[in-house]
Order: sequence, then structure tokens, then C-alpha cells
Amino acid sequence: MVEPSTTTEEVWRIEPSGRLQGDVFVRGSKNAVTKHMVAAMLGRGESTIHNAPEVGDVGITSAMLESLGIAVEAKGDTIRITPGDTIESRVPLAFTGLNRIPILMLGPLLHLTGEAFVPLVGGDPIGQRPVDFHVEALRAMGAEVELGEAGITAKASRLRGARIELPYPSVGATETILLSAVLAEGKTVVRNAAMEPEVIELALFLQRMGALIELSPDRRIVVEGVPRLHGASTRLAGDRLEAFSYLVAGLISGGEVRVHGCHQDRLVTAITTLARMGAQFHITDDWISASAPERLRGAPVQTGTHPGFMTDWQTPLMVLFTQAEGMSVLHETVFDNRLVYVPALQSMGCEIEVFSVCLGGPACRFHDSNSLHSAIVRGVSKLRGADVTLPDVRAGFSAVLAAAVAEGSTTLRGVRHIERGYHRPFEQFTSLGLRIQKDQAPVHAGS
Ligand code: EPU
Repeated sequence: MVEPSTTTEEVWRIEPSGRLQGDVFVRGSKNAVTKHMVAAMLGRGESTIHNAPEVGDVGITSAMLESLGIAVEAKGDTIRITPGDTIESRVPLAFTGLNRIPILMLGPLLHLTGEAFVPLVGGDPIGQRPVDFHVEALRAMGAEVELGEAGITAKASRLRGARIELPYPSVGATETILLSAVLAEGKTVVRNAAMEPEVIELALFLQRMGALIELSPDRRIVVEGVPRLHGASTRLAGDRLEAFSYLVAGLISGGEVRVHGCHQDRLVTAITTLARMGAQFHITDDWISASAPERLRGAPVQTGTHPGFMTDWQTPLMVLFTQAEGMSVLHETVFDNRLVYVPALQSMGCEIEVFSVCLGGPACRFHDSNSLHSAIVRGVSKLRGADVTLPDVRAGFSAVLAAAVAEGSTTLRGVRHIERGYHRPFEQFTSLGLRIQKDQAPVHAGS
């Protein structure tokens, strides 16, 4: 749903709470469910997505689809999507800046109507987040694409398969290509494609809808266009970022959280990273738990594309570093401005220093820029409660973690960011024993 303008906002007041422990059940991820919803536009007939999370981004994406003439019914963990007979080609400007989903709709809208307009995409302020790879891919497939001040306009009577080499294995651009190539005329070959689990999940869903997709070695995906796709049904795999974040919630507070619903194979690098820091794991086919019999040790970690250490895991890890013995080094190589949340943590006493040079790993593509993408973290820091404005969805969760182990109470503003991406975070944290209260407060300038 589009948020109404308001002069007050929901804030969370968090008190120190001791150990966080208990069971958390994770559902599918925001970054998979929303893409599946876009894919469902392409099917003739109903598609069903099970194990969907109840997150703000589902509401935003549902409203976008409905504005185009696509019926969406979300009940509990199930979303049903049925494209109507007449589809609008323009995503309304009201959706400007709300999330990254409109750009993914360009290809599907071109297939359905021959033309498309999508407003400027938003998402978190974690870097430049350009859309040039998406635009160039669509152009290579024969679309005329124009970038305007309000958004992107595209036209194509029929998209054609193309050979596309991505300059960087971008998740979103690979998804744009998949969503465009499945109904294009002929074969599309993508080199240097993203292979993140959420991308593969999307490819599998499209295959269920009737698409011909081949996943080849060396980041190569081959798609042979088909004349039509049908509706399909799928159950989303558990969110690997939520799973990691709640495991960290247990570790940071000296407790133990048992996470159900996310398989070990989606957490391999995360588990090894935490185990090297001294965490002990209990891993079964149904759940994973982590505990720290002794204080954890700091570590050097570099984020990267899958199967490396996921950039979204970086924010909870950074707070955990502040509670680990000794120094830790973090090198962010996916987004140039992902450390934008560090000042909020510093205001709570986290001893984190950021650098533009590449630390803790080989030089990355940001090494000649001024982007502050490396950090040194000193542990163990004594954290204190503060009045904090959250800049983005992942930073928001980290601030909750810091508040949980801080001395004194913390007020978190901008919690809508957390609710955009995590399934019922308030209820989950409460069930783990976090002392947290919802309140209304006047909106601060800049929040
Ligand atoms: N890039 C370009 N040009 C493009 C596209 C990407 O230069 O046209 C660059 C980006 O600036 C960035 C890099 O390529 O430096 C990787 O970006 P990517 O396209 O892979 O990211 P994304 O699709 O925008 C998704 C998730 C992110 C997640 C990344 C990496 C969604 C909606 N977002 O972003 O999730 O961190 O992949 O895995 O799927 C989050 O959920 O909080 C979040 C930021």
C-alpha cells in the first residue's frame, strides 16, 4: 500500500533485555517474493506463491500489479495472482521511489502491451544503484528505451533474444533479462549472470510456468523464448538473511535462537564465518541454532556475490563485531555506500571507523573511488541507548540488535524500513524476549 503522508510515525522503544532466546520461523524473502509476483504477470491463468512473508514490499508490489489490471489476493502466507484481460502499460507515478520492483516490470509489460512506463525506482540509499545494465539489456533485446526525469519509457513490438554480457553479476539485471527473455523471440545468452539463490528461485518458478531456461557453468544462463507461459504454483525457500539475522540476535545477547525454515545450504558461508568467530552450531534438517559458550572473536570478512558472504548479512555482523573480542575488518564490495548506517551505530557507542581504501581482502572495483566501503571495528564496545533514525531496511534490524545489548533505552525512528523487509519483526523479537514497545512520535526532519 502507498503510505499516506503523516506528521507522526511509529517508533520502537527498546529496553535492555538480557538473553534473546527461542524459536523463529522464517518465511520466503522479500527479494524472492516480489520477483515471483512480477513473473506471475506473464502467465496465462492464476499463479500461487506459498510461504510468502508478510512484509511491506508485498503490499507495495500488490498495489502496483493491481494498478496494471492484475488481480492479487494475499491471505496468510499465500498470494494468488491472476492477470486480467486488459493490462495497463504504465506503472503510476505514485509508486515513484518506493522500491526497486518497477524496473523489473519493463520486460513483462513490453510482452503484454508492446510499451511500458515505469517511474524512478527507489530502494535503500546504499549506493548509486544505477539501472544501466537493465536498460542496455532491454536495448540489446530490441526495445527502444528512453530515460526521462520521471521514469523510463520503453517500446517493442516483440523482444528478441540477444547475447548479453553483464559488466557485474547484478541480481536485478539478471532478473530483468530472465523476465524479458522467457517470451522473447529466439535464444538469449547471459554471461556473468548473478547466481544468487533468489535468482535461481525465480528461474525455477519461470520454468514451472513453461519457460526454457538452462543454467550453465561459469555464470552463463541460456533462455530459449517460448510463445506463452501458464500460471504456476510454488513454495518459497526460507529467507537466508532473516535466518542469519536472528542467529546473530541470539549470539550477540549471549542467548540462543533456533531458526526454522531456512535450509543449511543457503547459509554455508554465513555459518562458517560465525563458527570461525567461535560460535557453536546445532544443525538439523529442520532448524539451525547458534550459541557462544565463550565471548566471540573478531574476524576479517569481505562481502561478495554468491556463494560468498552476502552483502545483506553485513549489517547484523557489524554489530556482532562490536561485541566480539579484538579487532574485526569488514570490506563491502557489492554496494559502494552500504556503510551509510554506521553513524547510527556510532551514536550508540559502536567503535567503527570507515575507510575508502580496500581493507581485509584484494582490491575491489571501488578502490579508486571515495566510497567509504571498508571498516575496522573494535570490540568489545559498551553500547548505550540512543534516539536513532534508521536509514534503510537492513540497518534498521542492526540498530535493534545494538539496542538489545545497550545500556539504557533506545528510540528507533523509521521502523517502516524494517517492516518493509522482515516478516512481522515486532512479534518475532517480542517472542525472543526483547523488551520493545510501539509508540507514535512526531516525524523528525530527514527521517
Ligand atoms: N549495478 C549497476 N548497474 C545496474 C545494476 C546494478 O551498476 O544496472 C551495480 C550496483 O550499483 C551494485 C551492483 O551492481 O554495485 C550489484 O547490484 P545488484 O543489481 O546485484 O543489486 P540489486 O538487484 O539492486 C538486490 C537486492 C539487494 C541485495 C543485492 C545483492 C532486491 C530488491 N534487492 O539488489 O537487497 O543486497 O541484490 O545481493 O532484490 C535488501 O534487501 O536490503 C537489498 C539491498
